[in-house]
Amino acid sequence: MKMIKLSNSHGLEFVAASGLYGFDGQGYRWKFWEWPSKWTGAIDKSLLTIVTKTLTYPPTRGNYRWYAPWRVVKLVSAEGETIPLLWGLLKPELVYGVANAVGLTGPGFERWLKKDYPIINRCGYKVIVSITGTEVECGRIARKLNELNNIVVIEFNASCPNVVSGLKNSNQIKATILRITEESDLPILIKISYAQKYVDIAKEVEGLIEGISFNSLPWYYVFSSPSPLGKYGGGAISGLVCRKFYKRMLSDLVGAGVRRPIIMPVWNYQDIKENFRLGASACSFGSVGFLYPGRPTEFIRQWREEEKAALKEKSID
Ligand SMILES: Cc1cc2nc3c(=O)[nH]c(=O)nc-3n(C[C@H](O)[C@H](O)[C@H](O)COP(=O)(O)O)c2cc1C
Repeated sequence: MKMIKLSNSHGLEFVAASGLYGFDGQGYRWKFWEWPSKWTGAIDKSLLTIVTKTLTYPPTRGNYRWYAPWRVVKLVSAEGETIPLLWGLLKPELVYGVANAVGLTGPGFERWLKKDYPIINRCGYKVIVSITGTEVECGRIARKLNELNNIVVIEFNASCPNVVSGLKNSNQIKATILRITEESDLPILIKISYAQKYVDIAKEVEGLIEGISFNSLPWYYVFSSPSPLGKYGGGAISGLVCRKFYKRMLSDLVGAGVRRPIIMPVWNYQDIKENFRLGASACSFGSVGFLYPGRPTEFIRQWREEEKAALKEKSID
């Protein structure tokens, strides 16, 4: 069994990527196609570790509006054409990616503490909190997170592709992570993107972090056609169309001798095996869980069954 064993003894094998289940681990009520899976137990969140949507210290308006989420979240084909949401849900095999320009829309840390953390606590989730911001802001958040029972890891989002200032250089990133380590004993993950000098960044912070996760890519890294989110700067793209970029990142990081474990995105079931074979130590579910809400649970259950069968076979031999 592959797994990231963290310094606080929490194990990471499967992760729900930031953005999938919102700020409180519950997800979004407007995702009506998720309702049947919720009601029938086809989503079992105990099988993975949830990463919260990225939190900033001050409240942030961003581009997302709860009454019109589809303005900033689009399903796209292999060629980058927009697929209307209902059509994509009826014919998910046409969907190869999810474009989003949500940005860092959020309630701010103080409100999250009052409104969202109690839900996490009540549900008994042990979550990874994704944070971003200046050194001072991240330090403040980290100090408080350290006191909370249901937080197992801090993920520093060093790469929000929707925010220009999100693409920080490795010195700034290192300084911010150092500040987080000064304020908290929680293990730290760093989230980086193909659009950055990801090997340099990973090398720079290697001694401070316990794992690396991958963010979506800016639209124009993947498609030459205009983005349906052009008025928001193009937005970010994730999902199957990005897999070749994630694989290149993994191969470059492993090839450069980066010593920290890597959490790699999954779209199809076979990606789990391939991720581990290529050197990843854990898997994350982002866009796939957006389009097919039951898939993360289905895949993990199937993976467990296969592991059990392999173990049984081994013991017979
Ligand atoms: C609608 C949406 C919102 C997202 N919000 C965040 C976020 O707040 N913070 C973050 O670090 N990543 C965010 N992501 C990126 C995912 O966490 C994940 O890293 C990315 O989608 C790549 O994985 P995938 O190809 O499996 O989707 C978001 C992705 C989507 C589709």
